Amino acid sequence: MSDSNRLRIAVQKSGRLSDDSIALLKAIGIKLQIRDRLLIAHSTNQPIDLLLVRDDDIPGLVMDGVVDLGFIGENELEEKMLERQAAGKQHEYIELRRLDYGGCRLSIAVPNEFNYQGVQSLAGKKVATTYPFLLERFFKEQNVEAKAVMLTGSVEVAPRAGVADAICDLVSTGATLEANGLHEEDVIFRSKAVFIQRAGELTEAKQSLINKLLPRIDGVIQAKE
Ligand code: PRP
Ligand code: ZN
Ligand code: MG
Repeated sequence: MSDSNRLRIAVQKSGRLSDDSIALLKAIGIKLQIRDRLLIAHSTNQPIDLLLVRDDDIPGLVMDGVVDLGFIGENELEEKMLERQAAGKQHEYIELRRLDYGGCRLSIAVPNEFNYQGVQSLAGKKVATTYPFLLERFFKEQNVEAKAVMLTGSVEVAPRAGVADAICDLVSTGATLEANGLHEEDVIFRSKAVFIQRAGELTEAKQSLINKLLPRIDGVIQAKE
């Protein structure tokens, strides 16, 4: 799979960004054969390979230069950027385009019986989240002494499980919150999908292919407006 002449694009395997990202690639003329359970998909008409991975892995793959391009939510990207910055790791990337899909918000939500009077109500409380860096930045900006508790999944059950007093998680329809007796209070980050490129120089062939694809992406974006 490591034919370095082929452009490598990371796409979320399944989730909020998958279908729209793949539809966009197809709309700009890239023929793809995606088979279930395979990590890699080769384009049949362009020197392009797709890497189908968890969205959480995409920012790191781009920042480490393992892939050339990626489609990712700004929430995941910003969180990874802050995390890698704090760890002294490579965290550069180039934002090529902002896209009009994958919309969601990262919000503070509390159990229905929690008497929330604004962010200060979180003072001394524990807040479960998968986005501790974004949450701690928010606490700092708001001058509130609260604790972010990192959970990689099932964040919405944390209050019921007695693991945290509140949560900070992604919300799109609100169904998950409602099903868990929680309600949204403060939005801390609004996110959409972005198309990013790794920092540093690419080969001329790769860069000229990207430069050929971008106007086509713009065409698709404009056609939707
Ligand atoms: C997010 C979040 C909730 C859900 C909320 O997870 O963690 O589980 O979406 O959406 P709703 O408001 O429409 O109910 P998602 O699966 O999108 O992301 P993840 O796989 O990175 O956790
Ligand atoms: Zn994720
Ligand atoms: Mg989830």
